[in-house]
Amino acid sequence: TSIAELKAAAAALLAQRTAGKGGTLGLVPTMGALHSGHAELATTAAAENDVVIATVFVNPLQFGDATDLARYPRTTQADLELLDQAAVDFMFAPPVEEMYPHGEPLIRVTAGTMGELYEGASRPGHFDGALTVVAKLLHLGRPETGLAAPAADGRSAYRAYFGQKDAQQLALVRKMVADLNFPVDIVGVPTVRDADGLALSSRNRFLSTQERESALVLSRALRLLQRRADAREPLDIASVQDLVNSAPGVELDYLEVVDPVTLAVRAENCQDTPFTGQALALIAAKVGPVRLIDNMPLG
Ligand code: PAJ
Repeated sequence: TSIAELKAAAAALLAQRTAGKGGTLGLVPTMGALHSGHAELATTAAAENDVVIATVFVNPLQFGDATDLARYPRTTQADLELLDQAAVDFMFAPPVEEMYPHGEPLIRVTAGTMGELYEGASRPGHFDGALTVVAKLLHLGRPETGLAAPAADGRSAYRAYFGQKDAQQLALVRKMVADLNFPVDIVGVPTVRDADGLALSSRNRFLSTQERESALVLSRALRLLQRRADAREPLDIASVQDLVNSAPGVELDYLEVVDPVTLAVRAENCQDTPFTGQALALIAAKVGPVRLIDNMPLG
């Protein structure tokens, strides 16, 4: 729970495991209520690093309203067990005063125009809050001693793992790290899905049986776009939007085909021209009371 303790323990374990020669450390930031999607990040980090830290912190800065924050599930003991199973060495779960000792920070990261698109449009300030805490966690997770030198290709011995499930968050973290020269490699981990295609999310628990069935239209819509892209056919997004809206209880927020790095809409790929190149299809919809997001790469 304490930053000083975390830094000391991680450096000591790194030194012990690598006989003082220097090694690699993986960081897995989460807000807890962990499921198999988070576990995939943790096992990937454990397979690729000498020492792994997972962080569990429900970050007040990224929540729009206080009830949403209060309602966020907290399952510390189960989280600890899941991370232990995934061979994570440390779970850093600080109290809010450890992260924000002077209340909310005066100085913050802003996500810029990229943070106002898509998820940012329906959650103003969300990505500023998320990037601000990620910036802090990236600093806190980096041990003062024991890291190996960067590889010849410049890759860092310090890596942080994020899910492709939150494609906009991942793109923004990559942009922050590039724009502000954070000494860390960002690793994107593919989305973990249930057997029927539904992307795992801590919000799925709020879906009724019928809503869960309806929610499958999100991944089906993305798969349909993938098939059209693979066949170099026009994507005809309008037809896919209609398909999503025709599922009972589903209200589409957006379905966009965007550049995987800048997240700018690739208008040329949306309708009638044959698909070329590479893109990302992003979707968000309300299914009953639950807002779900998903995405898949195209091409
Ligand atoms: P949280 O929603 O707990 O997610 C933690 C990490 O797990 C994120 O990188 C997310 O993309 C990944 N993840 C969630 N569901 C996944 C799935 N089905 N497959 C693969 N990865 C999945 O995202 C946050 O927390 C916060 O914004 C945080 C980055 C921790 C900053 O507070």
